[in-house]
Amino acid sequence: MSDNRPIGVLDSGLGGLTVVKEVIHQLPNEDVVFIGDEARMPYGTKTHEQIISYTREMVQYLIKQNVKLIIYGCNTATANALQTLRQEFTVPMIGVIKPGSQEATKVTKTDHIGIIATESTINSKSYNKTIQEIDPKIKSLGVAAQKFVSFVENDQADTKEAKDNIEKTLEPFKDNEFDTLILGCTHFPMLKKQINDFLPETKLVDPAVSTVKVAKKYLAENNLLTNTSGHTLKLHATSDIVEFSRLAKRWLQTEIDEIDLVDIGGKDERNNNSN
Ligand code: DGL
Repeated sequence: MSDNRPIGVLDSGLGGLTVVKEVIHQLPNEDVVFIGDEARMPYGTKTHEQIISYTREMVQYLIKQNVKLIIYGCNTATANALQTLRQEFTVPMIGVIKPGSQEATKVTKTDHIGIIATESTINSKSYNKTIQEIDPKIKSLGVAAQKFVSFVENDQADTKEAKDNIEKTLEPFKDNEFDTLILGCTHFPMLKKQINDFLPETKLVDPAVSTVKVAKKYLAENNLLTNTSGHTLKLHATSDIVEFSRLAKRWLQTEIDEIDLVDIGGKDERNNNSN
């Protein structure tokens, strides 16, 4: 048995393309539809209720695209909305926090795991709690790195401002027992080089890798893998499509079948409500 419907991936912005890249790598025959809510990002500074409401609209949008599974690329959406929305929809949904935490607990040799993520994800303590549940002896420390999101979105990763901010933010993980760092935001794998330059000894965990492994296992166990070969890739964003398109092509380095500006119901709140 098989299921040839696409896999849906959601994120607040173009960071979710790090997850899309991993889906293409591990599941090259699956069609993918991505939605990035550029119009209302960053999610990391929004309230719990706002994040649930925006994520609900992305889920509804992906359901309309006839997806068989939704991967929450977005850590902030996973932390705030996954549990609630799993009760509202029957489509299977997989988030990044549990697989990312599991991977990090396997990687650490010193039982000290650092987490960098958006303000909202750090405040939710979702990673800390999940790591604690997996292995209570592991110490975890979360640090908010909200500015990293704008460095990626504005293509400023190689500026002096970004370098200074990255070094200042990552100082708590420098030269101490924290040997593993979870990149707890989809945008951060795009800063891997810059993070590595400052923390060359630290093992960086990108939750997308283990999340897509979980998704693949789920599809296989439920006879939901496709039986076609090759894939189509559709990228949809709610705003800033020109810049999104430019960065998507550069990051993915693969054929993209469609890049579209779409409306998922919300108005552009970025400028009035991003505090
Ligand atoms: N991409 C989101 C995440 O993984 C965060 C970026 C934002 O603040 O919107 O958490």
